[in-house]
Amino acid sequence: MKAILLAGGKGTRLRPLTLHTPKPVVPIFDRAFLHYQIDQLKQVPEIDEVILSLNYQPRRIEEVFGDGTGTGVRVRYVVEPAPLGTGGAIRYAAQDITETLVVFNGDVMTSVDVNAVVTLHRERQAKATIVLTPVDNPSAYGLVETESDGRVRRFLEKPDPTQITCDTINAGIYVLEPETFDRIPKDVAYSIERAYFPSLIERGDTFVAYIDRGYWIDIGTPEKYIQVHRDMFDGRFSAGVFAGADRAQPIVSPDARIEDNVTLVAPCFIDAGAHVKSGARVGPYTVLGRGVMVEESADLENTIVWPNSRIGQNAVVHGPIIGRNCHVGRHAVLKSAAVIGDKTQLTDYTTL
Ligand code: GDD
Ligand code: MG
Repeated sequence: MKAILLAGGKGTRLRPLTLHTPKPVVPIFDRAFLHYQIDQLKQVPEIDEVILSLNYQPRRIEEVFGDGTGTGVRVRYVVEPAPLGTGGAIRYAAQDITETLVVFNGDVMTSVDVNAVVTLHRERQAKATIVLTPVDNPSAYGLVETESDGRVRRFLEKPDPTQITCDTINAGIYVLEPETFDRIPKDVAYSIERAYFPSLIERGDTFVAYIDRGYWIDIGTPEKYIQVHRDMFDGRFSAGVFAGADRAQPIVSPDARIEDNVTLVAPCFIDAGAHVKSGARVGPYTVLGRGVMVEESADLENTIVWPNSRIGQNAVVHGPIIGRNCHVGRHAVLKSAAVIGDKTQLTDYTTL
C-alpha cells in the first residue's frame, strides 16, 4: 500500500515563515512537520512507500527527507509541472498505482488510528473513506454531513455561516480506490474537495466517514502553529521529543549549552547546539531551535525561535515567532505575537 502526502501548497497563511521554508517542513520542536505524519503512517504495516506530492519549493523538501533512509520508510517525490489542486495532484502522483491509497493533507497533526480507518474502508468495501473531526467553527474547512449508517451525505468546502448544519469537518485524511480517479481530468487544476467528493455522492459510490474525536489540528496559520506547540507542551498531544518525556521539566538537548545562573521554566524546549548565556531566562512555552544563541540576561517566554537566530543581551521577548538567522538587538522589547521572517535584524532598543 502507498501513501500520498499532499505537500504542494504555498503556505500563504504562514507567510513570511514559508517564504523560504515550505509549510510541510516548518519545524515543530526539533523536526520538520512531515516527520510526524511519516511516523504516523509507519504504524500501518502494509505501507511500503510514502509519495510526497510537491509543487512549491520541492528541493527544500527533498533535501530534508532524501530517499527516506532517516525516516525508516521509502520516500519518493512527485513534482507537478504546475499546481494541479488537491485532486489533480493525487491523480498525477498516483499515475501507475492501482492499489488502495492513503492520502494526507500535508498540514494536519492528529492522533487518528490510520489502521482503523483502513480496516473500516475494507469492511465497508468503500470507494473512498474520509476521516472527520468535530470543530467549533467549520467555516474554514470542508463541512461533511453523514447518514446514520456512516455514509457521507454532503460535502461542502468552506461553507458560509448560513450553510453550517453540523460540526464535523474533513480532517484531510482519506483512503481512496484509484479506479475512481478516471473522473479527475488530466493536467488541469481540480479540487478533491469541491469536485471529486461531491461526484462520489452524486454517482452513489460507497463513500464512508470515520469520525475521530481524538487530537486534530491544521497547522496552516500562525495561531495554529503556536497552538500545536502549546498542545504538545501541555500534553494534549504527544509525539516526537515528547513521547515519554517528563513535561514538568524543561526539555534540553544534551548538545545544548546552558551557562550557570540561567533560569529555565518548564514547559520549554531547547534544541541541540543552542547556547543560553548567564543571567538569561527561558520562560514557559519557549522553543529554541538548533544553534539559537541567547545572550546574557535576555528574557524569553511564549516564543518560538527557529534555528540559528540570536537574541541580544537584555532583550525581552514575549510572544513572537522568530524565523531563521534573525538577530534581535540588545534591550529590544518584543511583547506581541509578531511573526518575524528569516534574516530579520532588529536594531538594539527596538520596541514592538
Ligand atoms: N501537490 C499539491 N498541489 N498540493 C496541494 C495543492 C496543489 O496544487 N494545493 C494544496 N495542496 C496541499 C497543501 O500543501 C496542504 O497540505 C493540503 O493540500 C490542503 O491544502 P490547504 O491549502 O491547507 O487547504 P485548507 O486547509 O484550506 O483545506 C483543506 O484542509 C482542511 C483540513 O485542514 C481541505 O481539505 C478542507 O476540506 C479540510 O477541512
Ligand atoms: Mg490546511
